[in-house]
Amino acid sequence: MFISDYFMNAVTSILNKNYLNKDDIIFLLKLNEEKGIGKLFCKADQIRQKYCGNDVHLRGIIELSNYCEQDCLYCGLRRGNKSLKRYRMSKNEILDTARRIYDAGLKTIVLQSGEDSWFSKADLSEIISSIKNEMDVAITLSLGERTADEYEEWRKAGADRYLLKHETANPRLYSMYHQRQKLTDRIKNLLQLKSLGYQVGSGNLIGLPHQTTEDIADDILICKELNVDMASFSPFIPSPNTPYENKNAADPHLVFKTIAVTRIVLKDVHLPVTTALSTLYPSAREKALKVGANVIMPNFTPEPYRNYYLIYPNKNRIESVPDEMISSVKKLVNSLGRNIGVTRGDSLKQNRISV
Ligand code: 5AD
Repeated sequence: MFISDYFMNAVTSILNKNYLNKDDIIFLLKLNEEKGIGKLFCKADQIRQKYCGNDVHLRGIIELSNYCEQDCLYCGLRRGNKSLKRYRMSKNEILDTARRIYDAGLKTIVLQSGEDSWFSKADLSEIISSIKNEMDVAITLSLGERTADEYEEWRKAGADRYLLKHETANPRLYSMYHQRQKLTDRIKNLLQLKSLGYQVGSGNLIGLPHQTTEDIADDILICKELNVDMASFSPFIPSPNTPYENKNAADPHLVFKTIAVTRIVLKDVHLPVTTALSTLYPSAREKALKVGANVIMPNFTPEPYRNYYLIYPNKNRIESVPDEMISSVKKLVNSLGRNIGVTRGDSLKQNRISV
């Protein structure tokens, strides 16, 4: 047997295991084009088919404020970035945008912003309940770290899900990127959200300075441990006017591999193709949907605000007018023999409360 045959047998035997340990995950994340990556992608697609079927769920995003009280070294919204024009959408603008998402047939509205306590507990409760009273949709919040009391109130107002990425499961890197924040607090927030009955999403940034393949394996494993309902693995893209502006962007192929390995390890979880991945790699949606992803999150933030939500540059390159975008997403999904989900696309877990 040639050495390459031994190697391919090793790939096959790992992919046939019921339980993948950290070494297996690292091995798979290091596969390259000549070596076994096709088998990895094929297995991930089979598992996606088994647990998610052919539905691709669309979640419409509203970026309601780009003010942020945090100072994350990688993020263009960091408060230290004085050259970014800041905005907050009014309640009416948010409701109008929610209606546009609902009228486009989407069943999930994502309310996303920097960490902006200007939007009070009561303001957000009012926005959430107004949307829920008028529209039959799920609401996902993505507003960063807030108090347990706020999380509880918003859940009561009708919020269904919360997206709070852990960003990195390496506590040393976490403290380096975020300085004033600690990984333990982030995990505490995620556990609070779970105990309040939110469907919870977490995830990381791939390709940040000093990150290793081992760190990415830990990011996948922490999502497993937290039994998350959704996991967002997204590439780092250097953003001007941040301390990391001159660093290299992530390798998009590593992101595709991470999505595939996550599908194999976590199985019954929603995995989005992120806007950042599409910004970095033109046919990212098609590619990611073929290797384990089952969610697309179109951005509905209206002009001019969408031009100011600059977490990283060129973010709006792929995001044209929402209507055109939705029809091109539908065309793509159908061309892959898949269909747009007609349900809310809630958690795939049978028993999601247990951690
Ligand atoms: N590139 C890609 N994604 C980023 N985020 C922040 N900065 C960047 C960047 N430079 C992501 C983080 C965070 C969300 C606000 O955006 O993962 O959770």
